Amino acid sequence: MQKILVTGGAGYIGSACVKDLCRQNFQVMVIDNLFKGRRELVEEKADFEKLDLLDRNKLFEYFEGKKIDAVIHFAAHKDAGASMKNAIQYSENLRMMINLLDAMAISKVYKIIFSSSAAIYGDPQNSPIDEAHTTEPINYYGFTKLACEGFLEWYRKIYGIDYVSLRYFNVAGDHGLNYLDPNAKNLFPIIRDVISGKSKELKIFGNDYETRDGTCVRDYIHLSDLVDAHLKALEFNGSGSFNLGTESGQTVLEVVAEFEKQIGKEISKKMVGRRKGDPAELIASSKKAEKELGWKSKRGLKEMVQSTLAVG
Ligand code: UFG
Repeated sequence: MQKILVTGGAGYIGSACVKDLCRQNFQVMVIDNLFKGRRELVEEKADFEKLDLLDRNKLFEYFEGKKIDAVIHFAAHKDAGASMKNAIQYSENLRMMINLLDAMAISKVYKIIFSSSAAIYGDPQNSPIDEAHTTEPINYYGFTKLACEGFLEWYRKIYGIDYVSLRYFNVAGDHGLNYLDPNAKNLFPIIRDVISGKSKELKIFGNDYETRDGTCVRDYIHLSDLVDAHLKALEFNGSGSFNLGTESGQTVLEVVAEFEKQIGKEISKKMVGRRKGDPAELIASSKKAEKELGWKSKRGLKEMVQSTLAVG
């Protein structure tokens, strides 16, 4: 039975992945510092340890004698806006990556799956965005993800650690854990808060973009599809970076309309000015993932909205 270590396995995406890994009969080990993660999200079958990747010595001790086959690395700070105000905190993404790669090199663990982001590309020069697109992040969060990819490549060259870097586009929905990240300042959880009455109204950031209805277009990908991609990445031999998206985009108003359709009433909303740093359109080309990982997204906007609304 393969032993998989999942960092950040108590978070929104990590816990969803742990759930499927346990079902597929991997031996799953989870480490998480529980700053934002939630212990109760971690499948019971997984071995859990509260551990901070910034604690190098504890991490090295943890790896000793465990004979881990592969690592899936989710643990990171992920708020692009916050990264522009607190670079010191976001630099921890780099320290965590280095500590983890060092522990892997010392303990001879030769495979890692990494959570990267479309944020590494910065302003899109063309659409859809493929993996050869220039990487010029416009926020520090994106830079940390890009720098981590750089470390992965060097540790591959020097120690032979294979990596699969998965560049997520806009992740949404629930994977049956009945959980949406309360810390995420993203469109789907915000709309849900408006529906539940937790927030007064949805502010739509800009309706003067050159898109079909003036609002920004994003490539929303279902959390369950994202989990599938990690399972495929575990089977992949070699190293590489892959975009994960649906190859299609929805405007903010289209997302809102789908929610309104499913709940059968209008959502309270207001047009406000553009949010700084928002590109008009972000759509992935995921051809490489399809060809090399054998992965393709299966679920659409309807399912993403359905599963978001089903969260109690
Ligand atoms: N939006 C609104 N109102 C809101 C929140 C969002 O109109 O209250 C709009 C945004 O302007 C954007 C779209 O909804 O057009 C999606 O916004 P999100 O904040 O959900 O997602 P982003 O596209 O800004 O960010 C995502 C990830 C980041 C990543 C970034 C770039 O959440 O981690 O993509 O790849 F850095």
